[in-house]
Amino acid sequence: MNKNIFLQNPDQLLVKKNYNLKKILKVIDKGEEQICFLTNSKKQLIATITDGDLRRAIISGKSLLSKIEDLKLRKPIFVRFEDLDNDVDKLLNSRIKILPCIDQNNKLLGYVRYRDIVKEDSIRSREICILGCGYVGLTLALVMARSGFNVKGYDINQGLIKNLKKYKLPFYEKGINSILNQQLNKNFKVTNLVSDIKKCDTYIISVGTPINNLKKPNYFFLKKSIKSLAKILKKGDLVILRSTVPVGTSRKILINLLEKNNKMKAGKDFYVSFCPERTVEGNAIKELIKNPQIIGGYCEKSAEISMKIFNEITHTVINAQTLEAAELSKIIDNSYRDTIFAYSNQMSLLASKYKVNYSKLVDKINLGYSRNFVPKPSPGVGGPCLSKDPHILDNSLTEQKINFSLVKSARLINETMPQKICDTIISDLKKLGKKNKKIKIFITGLAFKGSPETSDLRNSTSIQIFNILNKQKKNNIYVHDYVLEKINNKTNKLNFINLDQGFKNSDVILILNNHKNYEAINHKLLSKIKKNTIVFDAWQMLYEKLINDKNIIYRYV
Ligand SMILES: NC(=O)c1ccc[n+]([C@@H]2O[C@H](COP(=O)([O-])OP(=O)(O)OC[C@H]3O[C@@H](n4cnc5c(N)ncnc54)[C@H](O)[C@@H]3O)[C@@H](O)[C@H]2O)c1
Repeated sequence: MNKNIFLQNPDQLLVKKNYNLKKILKVIDKGEEQICFLTNSKKQLIATITDGDLRRAIISGKSLLSKIEDLKLRKPIFVRFEDLDNDVDKLLNSRIKILPCIDQNNKLLGYVRYRDIVKEDSIRSREICILGCGYVGLTLALVMARSGFNVKGYDINQGLIKNLKKYKLPFYEKGINSILNQQLNKNFKVTNLVSDIKKCDTYIISVGTPINNLKKPNYFFLKKSIKSLAKILKKGDLVILRSTVPVGTSRKILINLLEKNNKMKAGKDFYVSFCPERTVEGNAIKELIKNPQIIGGYCEKSAEISMKIFNEITHTVINAQTLEAAELSKIIDNSYRDTIFAYSNQMSLLASKYKVNYSKLVDKINLGYSRNFVPKPSPGVGGPCLSKDPHILDNSLTEQKINFSLVKSARLINETMPQKICDTIISDLKKLGKKNKKIKIFITGLAFKGSPETSDLRNSTSIQIFNILNKQKKNNIYVHDYVLEKINNKTNKLNFINLDQGFKNSDVILILNNHKNYEAINHKLLSKIKKNTIVFDAWQMLYEKLINDKNIIYRYV
């Protein structure tokens, strides 16, 4: 068989005759190909069903509950295994991108993808290097490797590389484990040696871009990575900046440093683009192939090659036209989200003055009113992005002398939430006569969010609340987190206990993220809470079960 023909496993894309449209859509949605295969009990191919077939069926009046037999299905285009070498090129084209392959008994053996056999402008043969294998770099590297690219993951953290070589991941991310197991030492290799990456031709920078104590961008990691890259950059190479940066960084720092340290010219000798990471932690693998990728190129060719590369992993790429537009798109997105969350957090403080439950009010405000979506309040907004990116945007506003920074005010509101929560608890403790006593505090939900699941503690408001309550070191503080517990990644500095132990005999219980498991906590566990315990349930996960419990003091944002 022609060595470029890869027969893909179809098992996840099989549907049966008794499926309805909704069930078929779910199967298609799970895969990457926008198609599924209808087979019988002997796995013989009956038809292929595409996204388009379903769309047309719905337009023509079919419902999600309609059965496959109600659809107008065409005869499938397929290739017989013995004809693969000769026919695949004839049958696959930019319109027919997936070709089922069957044996002499019509049994489905697999399918061939157009993108696996066609080297459009040699895009598939590009050698990719991802600089920085953290949350962003590693997930992207693995998804690119899975889609057929040769990917090298380069990171200066030797411990991280050593662990990756042993298939040990630095964090929890849904679905990433199995891709690492499949791709490591095949399409994906890791290294901390610059010499190992000099043969690559596409470099994607995804190192950390933190802010300093003055909330100004810290370019240390970025500049270091660019200087390493400058030493090995060759004619024709492409450099894509993926890290979140202030507007103008690609031009002023990336291109400047590369040109200064390498004597080559951007747009002539090498190509540069900015393509922001826009996935949500916890669902990154899925979103990397579903989300549109925004790309801004230094020149037309930079944008064109970058778009072709990203088109290999996702269906939609959007040309932002300039580097600056693409840079802005990322910080505008995140700052917008931070701002609307701050809006709700401030409104919830106001509502509480009138004894109004803001979270419940939001449900009513949004009900049947399609014009807006007012978010729920939260114990502040944490995580590595939303707590940082508005400061990056604010720096650009200041640089351009644009006053009354809305994003800065929003950030301040969100940053004061942890202290406000602690003030409420301290005031309750005072009323109970426990303010200066050594008490037991239990904090559950340490990761910066509960949904989608993550193990990320960076800038988590739960950790900030922990630090405030632990300031005088007089309390016994115990912690718990569903995801950290699952991956057994419990940082040494904290006292981890289980929920049962935490709910028993605590003076204060704080449930700080929105992990769905909290909703399932039963009365048996809740009955262990002792009298006069303050229960701070930031996301009202236990509202119905605890609001009328006279034994405890129930609080929420
Ligand atoms: N975490 C997210 O969900 C997310 C989402 C969108 C954008 N971003 C942005 O993406 C960037 C990376 O974020 P992250 O969460 O992956 O950070 P991270 O801290 O998890 O990973 C950064 C990695 O870069 C490595 N590194 C630092 N200097 C290096 C160098 N000179 N050469 C090679 N490797 C180097 C570090 O060792 C680390 O492993 C940041 O700009 C961030 O703002 C993050």
